[in-house]
Order: sequence, then C-alpha cells, then structure tokens
Amino acid sequence: MDIEFVAAGQALSPKSALARIVHEGAALEGVLAQAAAASRFTGAKGQTLDVLAPAGLDAARLVLVGVGKADAADALAIEHAAASAYSAVKASGLATLRLELPDAGADLAARAALGVRLASYRFDKYRTKEPAEKKPSIVKTEVVAADSAASLKAFEPLAALADAISFTRDLVSEPPNVLYPAEYAQRVKRLESLGLEVEIIGEAEMMKLGMGSLLAVGQGSVRDSQLVVIKWNGAADKAAQPIAFVGKGVCFDTGGISLKPADNMEDMKWDMGGSAAVVGLMHVLAGRKAKVNAVGILGLVENMPDGNAYRPGDVLTSMSGQTIEVINTDAEGRLVLADAVWYCQDRFKPKFLVDLATLTGAIIIALGHDLAGCYANNEELAGNLIAASQTEGEPLWRMPLPAAYDKNLDSMIADMKNTGGRPGGSITAAMFIQRFIKGTPWAHLDIAATAWRKPSTIPTSPDGATGYGVRLLNRMVAEKYEG
Ligand code: BES
Ligand code: MN
Ligand code: ZN
Repeated sequence: MDIEFVAAGQALSPKSALARIVHEGAALEGVLAQAAAASRFTGAKGQTLDVLAPAGLDAARLVLVGVGKADAADALAIEHAAASAYSAVKASGLATLRLELPDAGADLAARAALGVRLASYRFDKYRTKEPAEKKPSIVKTEVVAADSAASLKAFEPLAALADAISFTRDLVSEPPNVLYPAEYAQRVKRLESLGLEVEIIGEAEMMKLGMGSLLAVGQGSVRDSQLVVIKWNGAADKAAQPIAFVGKGVCFDTGGISLKPADNMEDMKWDMGGSAAVVGLMHVLAGRKAKVNAVGILGLVENMPDGNAYRPGDVLTSMSGQTIEVINTDAEGRLVLADAVWYCQDRFKPKFLVDLATLTGAIIIALGHDLAGCYANNEELAGNLIAASQTEGEPLWRMPLPAAYDKNLDSMIADMKNTGGRPGGSITAAMFIQRFIKGTPWAHLDIAATAWRKPSTIPTSPDGATGYGVRLLNRMVAEKYEG
C-alpha cells in the first residue's frame, strides 16, 4: 500500500473512492444529510454509509465512516475508522482511497495511515488461482492533512510498526511444512540488515547448556530445535542492562504422544505466535532506532509423536537443575519457556523479562478472544503493560498467581510436574514458568486467544494472524524504558 499525505484541495484522480470520517452528530451537507437520514447513519462508532456515484463530486464513490462523539474519538478510534473505510472499498475496483478526517493534524493523519496499512495486510502467497476481480484493488491511500511533511514525519515510526506487524503476521500465517525451526531462525537471521544482532543456538550447544526441558519437546521431530537470541543495542550506553522478551515458538503442536484430536489441529501452526511477537518487537525497535538495549529470545521447536518422542512419565532435567515429571506431552510450551527464561536471566541479567506464549486453551475459556492474560510478579511492570495495552487496542487482563496453587505442580518423584490439572489451567501454567524466575521482575502474557482471530472483530486486523503483542510492547518500551 502506497501512502501519501495530501492537501485538502488536491484534485482527485477519477478512479478514487473518497472516505470521510465523521464525528457523531456532525452536520452533513445537502444530499449527504438526506442519505444519512434515510439510513440511520448518525456517525456513531463503527457505522458506514456508502454513497455511490454522488452527483457533483469528483470521486467515483463516497463512504461516510462514523467515529463516535468528538470528545471520545481518540487516535485509536480514528485508526479503526480509517481501517473500516479501507475495508468498505478495498474490492471496489477503484485504485485510490482518499481519506478525509475530522481533524487534519499530523498525528491523527499518521494514525489513519497506520490503520489503512494494517487493514490492508494479506497473506496470499500460496493462492495461485484467485481471479483478479476478487483481489483488493486499492493500491494507494491519500490522507488529507494540513501539513503533509509533518504528517510524513509522524508516520515514520508507525510505518516501522506496520512493517514489523506484517512480518509477525507472515511468520504466524506460514504453514508448518514451510516454517520449521531452522527456516524460522534463518528468516530472523536476515533481520540483521535492520541492525539487529542474531545468534542461532543449535541442539548440540543446547545440550551442553543442559536444556533438557526444551530439547525433550523437539525430540520426536525430524526438525532440529533452535534457540534464537536477538539483540538490539540502541541505548547511548551499549553496556547498559537490557530489557528482555522471551517467546514460545512451537512451530507445530500435535500434542506429541498425548496427541491432540484431529479437529482444528491445523490451528496449531500458530503455536509460535508468542515468539513471532518478540520478533516483531525487535523488528520495530530496530526499525525506529529505539534508544534502548533489548534482548529477544525465541525457543523454536516442533512437538511431534514418533519413536523418539518424549513420553508422559519421563523426568527431564532443566537448565536450572530442577527436574520435571512429564504428565502430558501437550503441555510443551512451558517446558520450552522453562529453559528459555532461565537462559535469558543467566546470561543477560535483564532489568525485567516478559514472556509471550500461546500457552493454554484455559485462558480462552477464562477470558474469551478479546483479552490476553497478564501474569506478573511485579506491580510496576504489570501496570506499564496494562496501560500500554489499553492505548494500543491490544487489551490485557491481569490474572492472579495464588501461592496456594503452586503445590498443584508438586510431583511424587521429581521437583515438579508439567501440568497442574484442569482447574485454573492457565494460572498453574503461569506458575510453572514462575518456578524458573529467579528474582527478576517478570510478566507472562498468555496470548492463546488473541494471536489468531477468525473471525476478527478488530478493523485493523484481517481474519487470521493478528500480530498481537507487538504494538503494546513497542508502546511500553517507547513510553517507559527509552532514553
Ligand atoms: N498450544 C496449546 C494451547 C492452545 C490451545 C493454544 C488452543 C491455542 C489454542 C498448548 O500447548 C496446549 O496444548 N495446552 C494444553 C495444556 C494441558 C495439556 C495442560 C491445553 O491448554 O489444553
Ligand atoms: Mn500443547
Ligand atoms: Zn502448544
């Protein structure tokens, strides 16, 4: 999508759709007032009104998009309205979208452009037979802005964000035969062109490090497991203590010997969504040259059943030295994270650590699809995450870590079991990871419900991979940890 910021009077090309974002109750002129009255269009948030071939207008089509009352229509609402405007005309056959906003200031113009960029994401590389008339036709968006140079400047970091989110969505959308751990690691390696440092740690080295927990999960796969370390050193002091992000990267989760049922198993290609969000975050930090030192760690494995697979009953020794009795091989994400978070703390001694994982079905039952679960041992970190999640429209809900539940993880023969039973399944999963946190401020985001949406209810997120987490983490870093 080509984005331009143009002056209000600039002539429209004939193949343009014009979209006007309006406040609720705003006065509309002549025929538009009539059209609005005849269709109950008031400008309320989420409403659209399509006016085809309006007389006296240069555009081929006009769409009115409601953004709600002026005092409540914040930047996120403008972004969503711009995304809805794009979606309303994307398959019209027209090539250009001209967007008019209620306020032509640079910041809102840039946010509107971000909305269109995110809404126009598409993963179509494997579709060879789609007829041209079914493909989106809008290739250019012109956002009307008072100061186009200032708008372009304001859009720069947001364009970096959109690029990063697209990269994350691509990773999550790729099929599991294409994106296995080594291929995934190579794609991340190529991000060194952005200025990131990427280190790939293979099975032999993980063995030496004692990562018996992570390695057990990948043991039944013909694909080698990989640990990827991504570094961005953007702070003035390159040696300053980093902040750290760790992601679950299960490229495919069959459940292993505790095999999952066939229905919807194909969804388990996106069981690497936590790691992909970490990649996206590192991508945007580099893309906008963030003044911070950050480390991203990805635990990449494939959970398969075969003759060499790990079994229920196995006892694993993690890098921390703690032993784990495997009760269910489908509770594999926490086994990957156990070694990845330990390694992260051991090597980098970070200021804080946030892990992201599509960890449990139980969080979907608890919170539904609109919210991700946030567990934390530190109030400041939790507060920063939740505040950022609200401004960015990636809502988080704080979940408890009740000390009394910890004993559900106790094992008869090892230091712990890898499952704590069905009640509070997302909580005990978080508490399992907590056993591998040693004095570091830590938060765990269970994004099983939000990494993939079908159908999506968010205008900026087409059905499929959402890229959930990239925006909220980027916002938190920008507001609290830079400079
Ligand atoms: N990857 C799944 C969690 C998941 C389920 C993500 C559905 C997205 C949608 C995870 O590895 C898993 O299988 N968890 C089990 C844990 C159980 C065996 C303790 C679960 O949630 O059922
Ligand atoms: Mn599983
Ligand atoms: Zn999983």
